[in-house]
Amino acid sequence: MTDQRPTSAGEDLPGKPTSASRTTLSHIMTAGDTNLYGTVHGGVIMKLADDAAGAVAGRHSGGPAVTATMDEMAFLSPVRVGDLVHVHAQCNWTGRTSMEIGVRVMAERWNESTPATQVGSAYLVFAAVDADGKPRAVPSVIPETDRDKRRFQEAQIRRTHRLARRRAILELRERRPKE
Ligand SMILES: CC(C)(COP(=O)(O)OP(=O)(O)OC[C@H]1O[C@@H](n2cnc3c(N)ncnc32)[C@H](O)[C@@H]1OP(=O)(O)O)[C@@H](O)C(=O)NCCC(=O)NCCS
Repeated sequence: MTDQRPTSAGEDLPGKPTSASRTTLSHIMTAGDTNLYGTVHGGVIMKLADDAAGAVAGRHSGGPAVTATMDEMAFLSPVRVGDLVHVHAQCNWTGRTSMEIGVRVMAERWNESTPATQVGSAYLVFAAVDADGKPRAVPSVIPETDRDKRRFQEAQIRRTHRLARRRAILELRERRPKE
């Protein structure tokens, strides 16, 4: 959850460009970040992704925002001790009270000048909330570049699928006898 002052739900909010809230969070991986195999624990990367996405959601919505879902977290190659990890996050899409934040995780050796490579990606849905934890309206995101526009369209597809999946599972549970 972010800790900025909330705006009121229903307020007629002006749109905000993607670049206004785009954020990068960087962190050097140390021995405390490893799993039992000696590479970096996936949960460490997920926390960084959630932190970076939370900063974007807070900046875009101008107030507190909470993680509603995290999906399609992909780990493309292992991260190692001594890697400098950069988590790039941006607001891909906005609904009435929710935002999809896309995260791209890059890694490079902390003391070498070789280029960073992509090691992961994820999509997180944040809901903006008021002081009582109730959803509040967010400004529409205004995609700027062609890439932003593609991400906006793809996020709409994911949104449709998330809601359809949730609805289908709820309907199935309602039809089944109580466990
Ligand atoms: C997320 C939360 C605020 C949603 O509250 P709610 O009463 O269910 O409210 P709504 O159903 O109106 O959802 C609010 C928005 O989030 C979206 N949302 C909620 N759950 C979602 C899901 N599983 N998938 C996609 N979107 C979701 C809704 O579609 C809605 O977006 P919209 O207004 O843009 O259409 C509430 O469930 C919550 O507080 N969860 C805990 C969050 C938290 O603490 N996260 C940190 C984990 S430690």
